[in-house]
Amino acid sequence: MNEIGKVAVVGAGMMGAEIAYCFALAGKDVVLNDASMDLACSGKHRLEKILDKGISKGKIEPERKQSVLSLITPTDADHALGDADLVVEAVFEDEQVKKEVMSRLDTICQPHCIFATNTSSIPITRLATAVGPDRIGRFIGTHYFSPVSLMKLVEVVPGLETTEETVATMMACCRDIGKTPIRVKDVPGFAVNRILHAMWIEVNRLVEEEVATIEDIDIGCKLGLGHPIGPYALMDLTTNTLNLQVQQILFDAYGERFMPRPVLKQKVDANHLGRKTGRGWYDYRK
Ligand SMILES: NC(=O)c1ccc[n+]([C@@H]2O[C@H](COP(=O)([O-])OP(=O)(O)OC[C@H]3O[C@@H](n4cnc5c(N)ncnc54)[C@H](O)[C@@H]3O)[C@@H](O)[C@H]2O)c1
Repeated sequence: MNEIGKVAVVGAGMMGAEIAYCFALAGKDVVLNDASMDLACSGKHRLEKILDKGISKGKIEPERKQSVLSLITPTDADHALGDADLVVEAVFEDEQVKKEVMSRLDTICQPHCIFATNTSSIPITRLATAVGPDRIGRFIGTHYFSPVSLMKLVEVVPGLETTEETVATMMACCRDIGKTPIRVKDVPGFAVNRILHAMWIEVNRLVEEEVATIEDIDIGCKLGLGHPIGPYALMDLTTNTLNLQVQQILFDAYGERFMPRPVLKQKVDANHLGRKTGRGWYDYRK
């Protein structure tokens, strides 16, 4: 089994930055790459707040802050990724963008380097065609959950040609950084998003039928089902464009039961995308 020493995270957005954080917290050297140095640095900058929160809650010793941050090197240069043992791809959820990144890095990275995509909806087997025959056995899906710094689960998703050695390495690597991996087949939505979106579509039906308000549905899920966060507050975190995109993919794959509800489409049309745009199901502008 391969030892993962140095990690490269491509895409320093909401997911990528926190994935980098989890590896650094476990003592790994991480390069955090984005399209520009500004984007890469602002990804790293956001992690300071997460560290400060962890320190104020007594979960992280204050003296660790600088050492964790010093393990993360922001970069916009491809060559900085050349000696990584693992590349975690967390760029936009766009097949062409992801494939372009993967095929470019395939020529730069070492032969033993594993490529792990954090796609939430694109088949791993299809993304794997972006790399050459020598890499394809080391191409895999590792699906993290938001916020990555808090959520323990990673769905480990082998593509058609992923080797068992790669699966074993990634299961061990997830455990190494304090996550709990589950192995899931490469089907649209994997496992957890199928559960989640079935529920989100149903809560949207409840709102359309005026059975309950979004606030009361959130209260119901928290106090009645023990969820740590209500579905509407969570949709605002994951952003409604991505929510709709995933439901469209599930609808194409499984039919009627995953048909996105009009109320979600309307939110996207109105640019009420969630916390990112200041307004989603809730209003964050005040
Ligand atoms: N948001 C979620 O809750 C969630 C959950 C699980 C998985 N995902 C998946 O994680 C991935 C990233 O999602 P996100 O929410 O962090 O998106 P995001 O838009 O916050 O971040 C994407 C980042 O990728 C960068 N990027 C785009 N093209 C690039 C390139 N060619 N090279 C380097 N960097 C590039 C962008 O500048 C941006 O900083 C997506 O595939 C998404 O489906 C998201």
